[in-house]
Amino acid sequence: MLPTRELKTAQPFSFILFGASGHLADIKLYPALYVLALKKRVPENYCVVGFSRTEMTDAEFRKHVEKSIRTHMPAVTEKALTEFLTHVYYVSGQYDDVKAYKELAKRLEAIESGWAKNQKPKTKNQVVHLAYFSVPPDIFPAVSKNLCAGKVHDGKSPFRVIVEKPVGHNLKSFEVIKAQLLESFREEEIYLLDHYLGKEAVRNIYYLRHANPMMERIFKNTLINHVEITALESAGIQGRAGYFEASGTFRDMVQSHLMMIVSLLTMRLHNEGELDAGRKNALEQFYIPPAADMDDIVIQGQYGEGAVGKETATAYRKEKDVAKDSKTNTYSAMKLMTKISRWEGVPFYLRSGKRLSKKETRVTILFQEPRPVGQGATPNRLDIILQGEAGMRMHLQTKVGGTEPAFRPLILEDPLVCVGDCLPEHSLLILEAVHGKHQWFLSFDEVRAAWRLLDPVQAYLDSGKAPLYTYDAGTAGPKEAEEWMKREGLQWC
Ligand code: BG6
Repeated sequence: MLPTRELKTAQPFSFILFGASGHLADIKLYPALYVLALKKRVPENYCVVGFSRTEMTDAEFRKHVEKSIRTHMPAVTEKALTEFLTHVYYVSGQYDDVKAYKELAKRLEAIESGWAKNQKPKTKNQVVHLAYFSVPPDIFPAVSKNLCAGKVHDGKSPFRVIVEKPVGHNLKSFEVIKAQLLESFREEEIYLLDHYLGKEAVRNIYYLRHANPMMERIFKNTLINHVEITALESAGIQGRAGYFEASGTFRDMVQSHLMMIVSLLTMRLHNEGELDAGRKNALEQFYIPPAADMDDIVIQGQYGEGAVGKETATAYRKEKDVAKDSKTNTYSAMKLMTKISRWEGVPFYLRSGKRLSKKETRVTILFQEPRPVGQGATPNRLDIILQGEAGMRMHLQTKVGGTEPAFRPLILEDPLVCVGDCLPEHSLLILEAVHGKHQWFLSFDEVRAAWRLLDPVQAYLDSGKAPLYTYDAGTAGPKEAEEWMKREGLQWC
């Protein structure tokens, strides 16, 4: 039996958000916290304290939070929203000023001591403090040190620090960030968040394998030709040039989200408690196939102008705050292989891009060519569509009538939608962090395994030597990526 989630306790918590006026907070975190309140997944006593440099009163901050929830939720329940906002507070200060953290500690003390006497933290039911770092990594050291110096982290009460991916810019800077965080926190206090690991559909890759031994039997190199892992986005950079210019799609999507999908698909089926170790072990088995040229392994592109749906998208280089001669990739694709015995010899093709024709995240497993049985027979294929028109599709063949054997596709399909206790990814992950559940967060070892594998590829892309192809917004990506696949004897599914 897989363990069930026990996330309904009355554990009081204070959620401190660094970077409270940032983009991520607006589009994801406030809506996620509101959903937890709406679905009654928060205890009676909790608070959300925003911290950033902008000066604001509690009332002004509540207005800001309210606006972001109204903008980013399809609908709101007025009563739940009003109630949620009573738990929201704000402290302004410089990230490197210890006085601001002392002030923060005082505010927390005042809020927490105001909670009902019978709910007041007892030794075994202390308030959990969560510090969410929604700030650039160069600010981590100052925030970490001051959280301790200002006694927000007193070393006695339960404490968690949540850090968003990507952790580091490359292997070297990952090691630096790791060391900096470990100077202030114990490893078990650190929660490295990749929001794909909070998506039910992504977790389901692992559970599908668990629950369907039949699938495990066919996930074998003797049957499979290749695997494609695709994350297409129709959106552009959504005003995040500051972050994206230094990141690019390869770092932003491939090194993190797509590698998690790879590991969930190929890892050994461990007990849930060992999930992060299982994912790490799988990643460690992957390697970059030997090739004469790095361009046989990776390809990158950048979007130009074009029509995405009804919208006319501007070229990446014309986006606000993007350099006119930017070399940042907004599309990348690469090839990987693994030493995991059941997958040995099977190429994995990963690709992701912005401003493409649609939003779709998909795992496609293409099976071997069928034996020559007759006209029209094509290889079997399994699609696990995680986002977009989420569903599973098994492509089989069936004979058409007539005396000669001829075949047509038979597609077994069903939508793959979350049914039951479904929470948005950030809501679920925040709840799990409150309850100290680590397995759907990244471990340092896991991030290191991903960086070790991809560091040479990232270095090549950063070197300026890799060609950067342009593609029209609203298309399937650069035509060179189609040709790259053709050279592999394949085409994108
Ligand atoms: C984020 C990236 O981690 O994931 C964004 O920084 C990307 O650039 C986003 O758009 C995609 O997430 P989702 O949940 O929309 O698939």
